Amino acid sequence: MELSDRYRMVRNRTEVICKPLITEDFVIQPAEFVSPPKWHLGHTTWFFEKLILQKFISGYKQYHSSYDYFFNSYYESLGPRVSQPDRGYFSRPSVEDVLRYRKHVDEHMDLYLSEQISEEAEILFSLGIQHEQQHQELLLMDIKYIFGFNPMYPVYSSDSAFESEEIKEKNIFIQIDGGMYTIGHCTDDFCFDNEKPAHQTYVAPFRISKTLVTNHEYLEFIEDGGYGDFRWWLDEGWRWLKENQISAPLYWRKSDGEWMHYTLAGEKPVSMKEALCHISYYEAAAFANWKQKRLPTEFEWEIAARKFEWGSRWEWTSSAYLPYPNFKPNEGPTGEYNGKFMVNQMVLRGASIATPPDHRRITYRNFFHPHRQWQYSGIRLAE
Ligand SMILES: [Fe+2]
Repeated sequence: MELSDRYRMVRNRTEVICKPLITEDFVIQPAEFVSPPKWHLGHTTWFFEKLILQKFISGYKQYHSSYDYFFNSYYESLGPRVSQPDRGYFSRPSVEDVLRYRKHVDEHMDLYLSEQISEEAEILFSLGIQHEQQHQELLLMDIKYIFGFNPMYPVYSSDSAFESEEIKEKNIFIQIDGGMYTIGHCTDDFCFDNEKPAHQTYVAPFRISKTLVTNHEYLEFIEDGGYGDFRWWLDEGWRWLKENQISAPLYWRKSDGEWMHYTLAGEKPVSMKEALCHISYYEAAAFANWKQKRLPTEFEWEIAARKFEWGSRWEWTSSAYLPYPNFKPNEGPTGEYNGKFMVNQMVLRGASIATPPDHRRITYRNFFHPHRQWQYSGIRLAE
């Protein structure tokens, strides 16, 4: 596919995701970890403007001098910025301004991509595309939080199966031999720097479930008093649930004796056959303890993933997010993309129903702080 076609397709998909929103939905930030959808639209645009247009087009004039401040996310090397918890405080630039900004950058990118671009530019272009796709998933997560936080439970999609993922296969454990395995990305296709370098790792024999944990299985944990029994919980997790009064996955509530949960298709009864979603690492680890199983390491997951279906929920692993041996971050500002986050976060593997279809790899390493629940996360057990 031509670069300009790829660009248009990905940029357009972001706007399609925002189609069901009204102006007020674009600007609020109901929690510090949620970004207003308007911010995602501006930030992904800024990424192309900053890393490609300003760098490779001589005489390109920045669209607006304060957009660096509004739309820089965390790049220390690219100057001061609004701190993340404050992104919802600004009524200007307006949603219309941001859409005009997108159009402006798209027109310049289109022109730029119609000619032969340098290898360096092409690498940054690919990163910009993958970056926008990551924000497409974040947009769905954030829109869900904005709507799920609202007691009117607005419907985002009229497709009632929008997020559902029924587990049809029987829950069996598959045996994987121990030995030396190659872990990490080793082809020439795109990957993030944190997936490299590929390296050898020894793994002891293990067994891993073919299927994800269902709502039914998780309800057994809840009904067995799982949230009230310290024996299953990591100390930090136990403190987290006490301080935040957590007693169920995010978006779940009991109404007239029935468990309901908010989905982007509206509030619905929790379906027993569906894959569990929106749990923290602490909850995943407690559930595994209660089941007398454990979470797989990210290495076990990568080795076994060819033998099971994955991709509807990000799967918590027991691996801390750390650099692979001889990891080298990219040079320049994009070196801040992954490496500096390698502390106090856990790796999730796979992909989710919110991940763009062409943004999935067996070596992909997603990462979140262990208390986060708003990503589409689930559990696969190992032993
Ligand atoms: Fe970003």
